[in-house]
Amino acid sequence: MLNHAEIDNLKNWIESINEFNSTPEFGTTRVLFTPVEIQSREYIKAEMKKLNLNVHEDAIGNIYAVLEGRNPQLEPVWTGSHIDSVLNAGMFDGVVGVVGGLEALRLIMQLEVRPERSIVLIVYTSEEPTRFGLSCLGSRAMAGRLTKEDMHQLLDKDGNTLAGVLDSLGYSRNGFERLAVARGSVYGAVELHIEQNGVLDKEGLPVGIVKAICAPTNYMVEVQGCQSHAGGTSMTARRDAYMAACELALSLEKLARESLSEYTTVTVGWVDVVPNAVNVIPGTVRFSIDIRDVDFQSKNILIGRLEEEVGRIESVRNVKIRMILQNHDIPMKCDEGIIKTIENVCLSQGIDYRRMISGAYHDSLFVGEFAPVAMIFVPSKKGISHSPDEWTDYEDIAVGVDILANTLLTMANT
Ligand code: GLV
Ligand code: MN
Ligand code: MN
Ligand code: MN
Repeated sequence: MLNHAEIDNLKNWIESINEFNSTPEFGTTRVLFTPVEIQSREYIKAEMKKLNLNVHEDAIGNIYAVLEGRNPQLEPVWTGSHIDSVLNAGMFDGVVGVVGGLEALRLIMQLEVRPERSIVLIVYTSEEPTRFGLSCLGSRAMAGRLTKEDMHQLLDKDGNTLAGVLDSLGYSRNGFERLAVARGSVYGAVELHIEQNGVLDKEGLPVGIVKAICAPTNYMVEVQGCQSHAGGTSMTARRDAYMAACELALSLEKLARESLSEYTTVTVGWVDVVPNAVNVIPGTVRFSIDIRDVDFQSKNILIGRLEEEVGRIESVRNVKIRMILQNHDIPMKCDEGIIKTIENVCLSQGIDYRRMISGAYHDSLFVGEFAPVAMIFVPSKKGISHSPDEWTDYEDIAVGVDILANTLLTMANT
């Protein structure tokens, strides 16, 4: 168990990172490679160096802090998460896995004997899609699912490409071609994260062990109708892009409710109505669709039905609907061996736990493509996340860190 000073240290790290925030008046906003995000990177690198860890970065800005093992030629053990955020977020999403990993390394370094394998703490670049509309940029590139060409095509709202931004910050000289991680070169990876759902909180459990991670499929949708006068155009003559968008959104919700998979979720989180005026029938509407599932087949069935709905709405409402696929990611099953290791650590510490599904995605979704992965969850108060109201008690985080440290140590000595 962590002592008071160690819990205070965790709290201090989390609160210090939270100072790097572009919306202090409403939650925490730390968007990839904005000044606050760059400052938070500098801060965490400085804290890593204070612990004498070996720090380096790759061509997409993933940060690595290495605790060298006695046998560094063995495949290393990984841990880590992210420090970027969605707009107006909370203080814990991602940050807990980064500072929790740092504290775990600090605890392991206090032991007399160094572990056999090296342990690497990673801060993955842009787990959130906030800036470039695509999630898990750093871990996606490691998995070979984000190529140099993709980086030249990904645009932010100001028209900058990801490749251009990486160039301007000097990251690209680290070599895009070296980003992909070979399968088998990492022994195993464990990510500590807040649950972002209310199961642990409701059941009064301190720890969740993730057995599978839901994966997102994202679309940008553009509905083209006819912009016209709100009073002058009769109900039969109008081609209202907004009403068509609403019908598609509600059809999507119905499909999710009818899904046979318990973990299907769908969200329309961003909408742009043109021209957005009280007395004008909208001519164009753009909106986002986020579809997730732990069962790939169920997700594909839902997408097939959604496409049928698109055709139906186009003909009934005389509009054009364009669905632009952003990503179609594959759910990840966690590694039974690592899950068992975490369970044994919990049992030996007398910590109650349950196995669970992660509805949120994480960098582990992509790390799992080249290494065995599992995740440790700590409770989110009332299950709220991606919100300024996100909260996890520091004592609860400390329990997760303790389990993480012991798991990493066991893996590093295997
Ligand atoms: C990202 O954090 C997500 O799961 O949406
Ligand atoms: Mn998040
Ligand atoms: Mn996260
Ligand atoms: Mn996430």
